[in-house]
Amino acid sequence: MTFFILLNLLTFNQYGYMTNTILIIGAGGQIGTELTQKLRGIYGSNNVIASDIRDNKDLSASGIFELVDATDKGAVENIIKKYKVTEVYLMAALLSAMAEKYPAKAWDLNMNSLFHILNFAKEGLIKKVFWPSSIAVFGPTTPKEMTPQETVMEPNTVYGISKLSGERWCDYYHQKYGVDVRSVRYPGLISWKTLPGGGTTDYAVEIFHSALQDGQYTCFLKEDTRLPMMYMDDAITATVDLMLADKPKQYKAYNINAIDFTPKEISEVIQKHIPDFTIEYAPDFRQKIADGWPASIDDSVAQREWGWDATFDLERTVETMLKNLA
Ligand SMILES: NC(=O)c1ccc[n+]([C@@H]2O[C@H](COP(=O)([O-])OP(=O)(O)OC[C@H]3O[C@@H](n4cnc5c(N)ncnc54)[C@H](O)[C@@H]3O)[C@@H](O)[C@H]2O)c1
Repeated sequence: MTFFILLNLLTFNQYGYMTNTILIIGAGGQIGTELTQKLRGIYGSNNVIASDIRDNKDLSASGIFELVDATDKGAVENIIKKYKVTEVYLMAALLSAMAEKYPAKAWDLNMNSLFHILNFAKEGLIKKVFWPSSIAVFGPTTPKEMTPQETVMEPNTVYGISKLSGERWCDYYHQKYGVDVRSVRYPGLISWKTLPGGGTTDYAVEIFHSALQDGQYTCFLKEDTRLPMMYMDDAITATVDLMLADKPKQYKAYNINAIDFTPKEISEVIQKHIPDFTIEYAPDFRQKIADGWPASIDDSVAQREWGWDATFDLERTVETMLKNLA
């Protein structure tokens, strides 16, 4: 087992080097920050280039950091060539709530950044790509409970349309050009190191900050809105495990599942730790987005094919968030 993991960490790049050099685009975001730390731990700081359109002192302090716009094909190509990059993790995107406000910008960023990377892989400039999808690929006509890997997909949000299109393009590049691109459909992610970037599940992070600071939170979703969620450590494990797995015969954006809960249920668990905590509900435009998404996810395909399993339940997630934010 150890031998195979080592073999996956060490592959020849186009210049003949026996190492993986990783570029993370959008490394300063909620996922990228923790993914960069994790990958630098595995591959060494000099082999993991963090990049973002915004400066980031922490990422520059812990390794190489480059300012780059993911939509600027030439600039991304220069970085890939400069560092002889073999793998790209493309994390830059406009998330669901922001994408509803800026549809053209969301389409431009979410699609063109992906095209650039898929074309670099097609041309053999890079060997492997991680591109994150989302539960937003599903829509109001999708079965809501235990949403299967393959099912009806008719997203009705700007973000969901861009993610489903992205999945189809990844599959096309895999089938037509043999591109090694891998994806998971992240649910809402809960973490304390970085604030979320404008999604519909952001309430599940904001609630902890407000509970500790004010003892009160006004939630932008209704109390009974059930959504699939995951603690960040599990999401990072899923990402790294999928990238270290054997080269897939087929492209799949894998459903991955951990927990699902409503705003009322998470507030009740927080109240066990902060008994005076209160919550109110003032649903806004994000309610409509959430109403079109699954309530829970069937991830049996990911479990079967590459051994995926989550480790954080709701109680452990709440405890960990409160402990670290306090
Ligand atoms: N966080 C979640 O709950 C979640 C759930 C499902 C899918 N995802 C997907 O995972 C990926 C990362 O999400 P996240 O939560 O870390 O997002 P985020 O918004 O927190 O981070 C995105 C990062 O991309 C950077 N960025 C924006 N425009 C850029 C550009 N033109 N060039 C380079 N960088 C740019 C931003 O500065 C930011 O640091 C996205 O594709 C997102 O759709 C996230």
